[in-house]
Amino acid sequence: MNLTQPAVSMQVKQLEEQIGQPLFEQMGKKIYLTEAGREVRQYARAIMQQLEDLRSGLDSLKGLERGTLRISVATTAHYFAPKLLSIFYERYPGVNVKLDVTNREQLITQLINNEVDMVIMGRPPEETDIEGGVFMENPLVLIAPKEHPFGREKSIQLDRLENEIFLVREEGSGTRKAMELFFTQHGIEMTTGMEVSSDEAIKQSVQAGLGLGIMSRDAVQNELQLGQLIVPDILHFPIMRQWHVLHRKGKRLSPIALAFKDFLLNEATSILKREPLSQQGSQNMPKPPTPPAPQPNPTAEAQPHFRNYAPARPTTVLLGTNGKPIPPVPSKHKP
Ligand code: PGA
Repeated sequence: MNLTQPAVSMQVKQLEEQIGQPLFEQMGKKIYLTEAGREVRQYARAIMQQLEDLRSGLDSLKGLERGTLRISVATTAHYFAPKLLSIFYERYPGVNVKLDVTNREQLITQLINNEVDMVIMGRPPEETDIEGGVFMENPLVLIAPKEHPFGREKSIQLDRLENEIFLVREEGSGTRKAMELFFTQHGIEMTTGMEVSSDEAIKQSVQAGLGLGIMSRDAVQNELQLGQLIVPDILHFPIMRQWHVLHRKGKRLSPIALAFKDFLLNEATSILKREPLSQQGSQNMPKPPTPPAPQPNPTAEAQPHFRNYAPARPTTVLLGTNGKPIPPVPSKHKP
């Protein structure tokens, strides 16, 4: 210990004075621990062990062995986020993930309040102290029930959508914002039916004939594969968007959070191409009611609406910013 014997004796004496009890007793030429001495030794060993644990714990936080990743993802992103997280977990089994799923508006609040390490959302907020990057395409498709007459047509003009009822997500949803912006830019008056706060419920409502929907293609892969919904060939669709991973500018990301950000930016697209999403999101949902079979009708083709449609009562009509339909603007995404 590099200490002289008197120095050790002095330390022991001071310790005994602090404790108020003798720690050693001398019997002949030998010294023994008193009962208080044995007690102090037991706790001292435990304290030394804890200090050792603390040291290695802090060391591992500097690396990638351990750590907590706090992320929040847009509601729609829950269709692919678990797949990506499971692969990340395999690589870093010591990581502890706290995942929150909420809509765009809540994500922005969480970012501003510094409640999460990072978020995944469809479009960065206007706030300037946010940084991050794009990691994947996010096309929004129009979905219709499988019996809808649109299913038999090609290159459908956008203004035909003015005859349809649209089911929309709640205020604060990024998907809803994108949808409203798209219709406004193209001068289309959108008639909205039910407001529904989950993509799952929108899909089931569309299947049940309550209206059409617009949502991320990631959210409907399963239903399209199973033929429960269709994506009609409408001009100017899909609405092209992208998934972003974002965090506060200047946020001191832990090594594990940095690793996750890099993982998304560099690998997410190729992983999801290699292992397409299937059966996710809707697998635990109850089966939707089967819509009644269409009645044979010789004039059905000529009808603008699906015959067995039960349109919800329109609640909102979206007009251009001046309150009137605005002329269509050229779309960047011509078919
Ligand atoms: P949403 O978000 O789930 O709030 O619609 C998707 C997005 O941000 O694009």
